[in-house]
Amino acid sequence: MDYFSHSEVPSLCLRDRQRTEAFREAIARVVRSGDVVLDAGSGSGVLALLAARQGARQVFAVEVDPALCDTLERNVATNGYAGVVQVICADVRTVDLPVAVDVVLAEMIETWLLDELQVPALNALRAKGIVRPQTRVMPHQYDALLTLGQMDFRFYGLELPFPIHDWPDLVDQAVWLPMPFQPLCETTTAFTADLTTPLDSALDLTLAVTPQISGTVNAVCLSGLAHLGGGVTLGATPAFNGNKLLPIEPFEVVAGQPLRVRVTGSRGGSSGLGRFAVARVPS
Ligand SMILES: C[S@@+](CC[C@H](N)C(=O)[O-])C[C@H]1O[C@@H](n2cnc3c(N)ncnc32)[C@H](O)[C@@H]1O
Repeated sequence: MDYFSHSEVPSLCLRDRQRTEAFREAIARVVRSGDVVLDAGSGSGVLALLAARQGARQVFAVEVDPALCDTLERNVATNGYAGVVQVICADVRTVDLPVAVDVVLAEMIETWLLDELQVPALNALRAKGIVRPQTRVMPHQYDALLTLGQMDFRFYGLELPFPIHDWPDLVDQAVWLPMPFQPLCETTTAFTADLTTPLDSALDLTLAVTPQISGTVNAVCLSGLAHLGGGVTLGATPAFNGNKLLPIEPFEVVAGQPLRVRVTGSRGGSSGLGRFAVARVPS
C-alpha cells in the first residue's frame, strides 16, 4: 500500500536505540560463527549486518519493498558484506531459499502480534522447511498482556473513540496530547505465544479478570513483552511493541467481583487491530 513513506518505519527502527541495542545484544548471544541466518523483513539491513558481523557464514536479507531493497543492497556493499549477505526482494511468506536456516531474525512485531505479519510469516517459513524445529527464532516468545480501564476519547470537543498508539516517547513529550488511561482491573496475561512452533492466526480467548476499582470500562490497554533470546527481553520502545489503547463497548465492573471477557481478533497483519474486539461474557 502506497499510503505512507516506505522508509519511515525502518528509519524509526534504526533510530530506536533501546530496540536496536537489545537486538544487537541478543544477536551477539544467539548467532554463532558459521550460522546461516534469515533476516525476515530486513528494512535498512541493520539486523542482517549485525548477524554477519557476529560471524554468520551466510545471511539472507528478505525485504518485500523494492524501494527499500535498493538501499539495502547499497548498505550491504558499503559495509563490505556483499559476500555474506544476500538481499532477496520478496515476500517472506512466499520466498524460496536454497537451504534451511540456523537462525531466523524476524522483527515484524507489532503489539500482541496483531498488525504485522510475524505469525503468518513464521508459519509459512516453517511449512516450507526453511525454519526447522532446531532453528533458533528471534524473538522466540511473546507475552500478551491486557488491562481493562477507562479513558476519555474526547478530542477538540469531539467524541472520537479511535485506537491510540501509545508509544513511550509520545507519552513523555508535552507536544502530544496526553491520553490518560485509568486501569480498573488487574493486568492479565492473555496469551504466551511460542514463536518456535506453528501458531493459529485467529485469536479467540476467554479471560478471567478481577476488577480493582468499580466503574465503567470503555477501553483496553494492550501491551506485551518479547523474549528475543539469550535472556534479552523487550517491552515497549519508541518503535517496537508500543502500548495500544483501544475503545471497547462499555460495561460496568465492581471492585472484587471477577468477570470474564471474550477477546477476538487476528494475529495476521493487515489491520489486526481493526478486527480486534473485547466483550464481557454474560455470567
Ligand atoms: C519493523 S521493520 C524492521 C526492519 C529491520 N528488520 C529492523 O529491525 O530495523 C519491518 C520490515 O519488514 C518489511 N516487511 C513487511 N512485510 C514483509 C513481508 N511480507 N516480506 C518481507 N518483508 C516484509 C517491511 O517493509 C519493513 O522493512
